[in-house]
Amino acid sequence: MPGIVLVGAQWGDEGKGKATDLIGTKVDYVARFNGGNNAGHTVVVGDESYALHLLPSGIINPNVTPVIGNGVVVDPQVLFEEIDGLQARGVDCSRLLVSEAAHIIAPYHRTIDKVTERFLGKHKIGTTGRGIGPAYADKINRVGIRVHDLFNANHLHDKVEASLHQKNQMLVKLYNRRAVDVDAVTDELLALGERLKPYVANTSLVLNTALNEGKTVLFEGGQATMLDVDHGTYPFVTSSNPTAGGACTGTGVGPTKITRVIGVSKAYVTRVGEGPFPTELFDEQGEWLRQQGHEYGVTTGRPRRCGWFDAVINRYATQINGLTDIVLTKLDVLTGLKEIPVCVAYDLDGIRYDDMPTDQAVFAAVKPVYEMMPGWSEDISSCHSFDELPPTCQAYVKRLEELSGCRISAIGTGPQRDHIISVHSLVD
Ligand code: GDP
Ligand code: IMO
Ligand code: MG
Repeated sequence: MPGIVLVGAQWGDEGKGKATDLIGTKVDYVARFNGGNNAGHTVVVGDESYALHLLPSGIINPNVTPVIGNGVVVDPQVLFEEIDGLQARGVDCSRLLVSEAAHIIAPYHRTIDKVTERFLGKHKIGTTGRGIGPAYADKINRVGIRVHDLFNANHLHDKVEASLHQKNQMLVKLYNRRAVDVDAVTDELLALGERLKPYVANTSLVLNTALNEGKTVLFEGGQATMLDVDHGTYPFVTSSNPTAGGACTGTGVGPTKITRVIGVSKAYVTRVGEGPFPTELFDEQGEWLRQQGHEYGVTTGRPRRCGWFDAVINRYATQINGLTDIVLTKLDVLTGLKEIPVCVAYDLDGIRYDDMPTDQAVFAAVKPVYEMMPGWSEDISSCHSFDELPPTCQAYVKRLEELSGCRISAIGTGPQRDHIISVHSLVD
């Protein structure tokens, strides 16, 4: 019963969509377990490019059952827009299953996300503004709305009332906004619930039954290790657990069912939003990476901050997630560089850090310790085996593997499905 978890090893946008699509041909289920439509996962098939936000990337594969687990926060309106957009392009979404225990992003969560960011001013997180944080806050505060609440009008009215009681005070008195109308929100959510109903299922039972029958389930993480609310660069994180443990709590599948944990990592690093980033480049080199790698957000269109590969982060990701494999993406982007710096450790006032400092004040102040690797100039996009890569490119990958403490099982050489070098199977 193979249960494969796939997570981002850095700050997101590592190419999880492409990696999921790659494995998707060999799995029966693809389940999202955390986050919501703050994610933007790209799958490129021939001339078609799909940007998926809430739907699991497995939706593109007709043999996969896509699942939205209980750990995801669902904005039903966004979900339907995404389904409609894909159906219009000929992608069948009827197989989708949505957990009845997943929490709902209501319109007031989006409002609160935006006003809170504005209020934070220079302390802002740089969120995607999709209502993710406020929806998770309600979940933890026990005033959230869950999918199954949408099917009972009285019950839902009661829940919305409880949820808005304090928020309306805050919106009016603190943020100088209009109060949200309980009846109007209830009606809106009831209508969305009607459309959601056919997709709703006890997804924990579905996934456990599938695993017990020997089917393969891929758990597709949104966001990434360094954005994890517990293990990331707090407070500059998202509000869920994108690390491997989140796959269990976010789907209702026990850890004994997980057989593989794949970390997706770029051959360099990017970050969107605020927060520390030791290898960030502020010069023309950073701009070069942004242009070569087309580093603009799939969800918000924001330019991504770019920097060199950071091995401290990858070692940390190996540890926190218990990685068994790494998919190294966007190696092609580095083609043309004479030398490539790799961050092997950090330094702060003469103290060397080989491991991730837990004190965020330290992490924000560290300087990268670089090791220089020779680059390559040959086009690698048509290489289909490791041996075909230029020798210096092979050495770069080998060094990253050594520093990360985890084997590199696949290498991305371009955005297309077949732009991939498989070193070890990711499924068997
Ligand atoms: P995700 O959020 O982790 O799924 O990643 P995004 O889709 O936000 O960003 C990754 C971007 O890199 C997308 O535009 C992908 O099409 C692209 N991509 C993925 N793998 C590769 C690769 O190996 N090489 C290149 N050049 N692009 C890639
Ligand atoms: P994928 O799945 C990159 C970042 C935001 C912000 C912080 C909190 O495509 O890798 P939120 O809206 O979640 O409260 O914002 O997290 N962030 C991402 N950055 N990729 C993502 O998803 C992200 N999802 C959230 O930019 O810094
Ligand atoms: Mg993304």
